[in-house]
Amino acid sequence: MAQPLVLKKKTKKPVLALVLAAGKGTRMKSSVPKVLHEIGGKPLLGHVLNAVNGADIHKIVVVAGHGEKQVRSFIGNQASVVRQFPQAGTGHAVLCAASALKHFQGLVLILPGDAPGVREETIREMVRIHKQSEAIATVLTACVKVPDGYGRIIRSGDQVAAIREELDAAEEERAICEINSGIYLFEIQVLLKHLRALKQNNRKKEYYLTDVVEALAEEGQIVRGFQVSNEEEVLGINSRVDLARAEKIMNQREIEKHQKNGVTIVSPDNTWIASGVTIGSDTVIFPFSWIESCVKIGSHCHVGPFATIRQGSKIGDQAVVGCFVEVVRSNIGKGSRVKHLTYLGDATLAENVNIGAGTITANYDGVKKQKTVVGKGAFIGSNTVLVAPIRIGQGAKTGAGSVVLGKQHVPAGKTVAGVPAKLIQRKSNSKKKI
Ligand code: UD1
Ligand code: CA
Repeated sequence: MAQPLVLKKKTKKPVLALVLAAGKGTRMKSSVPKVLHEIGGKPLLGHVLNAVNGADIHKIVVVAGHGEKQVRSFIGNQASVVRQFPQAGTGHAVLCAASALKHFQGLVLILPGDAPGVREETIREMVRIHKQSEAIATVLTACVKVPDGYGRIIRSGDQVAAIREELDAAEEERAICEINSGIYLFEIQVLLKHLRALKQNNRKKEYYLTDVVEALAEEGQIVRGFQVSNEEEVLGINSRVDLARAEKIMNQREIEKHQKNGVTIVSPDNTWIASGVTIGSDTVIFPFSWIESCVKIGSHCHVGPFATIRQGSKIGDQAVVGCFVEVVRSNIGKGSRVKHLTYLGDATLAENVNIGAGTITANYDGVKKQKTVVGKGAFIGSNTVLVAPIRIGQGAKTGAGSVVLGKQHVPAGKTVAGVPAKLIQRKSNSKKKI
């Protein structure tokens, strides 16, 4: 059967995303705005913006207020920003964006900046279903084990009749386990009309965006619930306890992604991998390793246990970054081995380098971070200190316990040893003729 014309028209509507990020986050007890607290090395707001960016959204607007300067500087040019001052509730926050919304003919997708688990696929699906339905608004919901602190979804048949905040809910309403994620789709113009009529008649004396849902339902408009089965997608971060829970969930997500790509993670509960990391197949990550964002690890590598690989470092195929090794802003070439108790900062290792236990690159001279370059096949003896800037030539060696001073570059094939390290002149092998 052909689709009715009106539905076809709806499907063309562009979607503007509005992220609410002005709240203080009182329960975090922090001087940092809540949405800038990090999980997986990325602010909560960054996770939300990523999900929105992947979901074919026309434009993104963020409402900032508390810690506005810091929030703006994080956002940069990822979205436009409007100010909410004072922060008088989620309904008021949306109203503060009215000037950005009012000329936009389409849908607004509203998301809280403190719910980092939503997936772009979910947003896409929600938009698709909303556009095909006759609903004026759609609320993303989930049934959760512990609904404490969330707004409860009051249903009337298959429609949403109201959202009741916990503080204002009657006992039987509190028993409802379907909760409001804080993510909604509204027809913009209809929403704006109802926002202006909001009252602060609740325990917190705020303008609640959630009250718009009841007003719409009372008017006979259709509000649908789009329920996700995975409650992790709707986890709102209000406290440090929530933050740690979300960190674990997002970490598991990342780990599963790598496992599916052929990476062995020996103990997923004791391994941390930030988002945006790439790892080649058949690499094994041993427990208690900490891998930051934008790190690239090749295939057939061994990492850990207790390895720390900091942001942006690169580890080539078949390399080993072993026990108690920290790698910072460094590139480790294919087949190189850094097996024990080592700090590599601002270092570039070519292929097949061997770094002995206890090696340290002294990369900070108190003013600048200096570079260390180690050539192919070089052998750095145990407990060497490489004072940067320094270059160790191809196939060169350092003796155990050497301190190779800055700029005392070691030529290819040569050996240095001692404190400070000096070139070792090898005696000729040929015996003197008698
Ligand atoms: C809100 C919802 C609740 C839902 C939950 C989902 C309301 C009234 N309640 O409750 O139904 O279950 O989210 O996580 O909407 N914000 C502003 N300006 C403000 C107040 C808040 O921008 O004046 C922002 C916050 O920065 C935050 C988001 O809105 O990112 C949600 O605010 P929060 O105070 O955390 O609301 P909840 O109590 O969690
Ligand atoms: Ca919240």
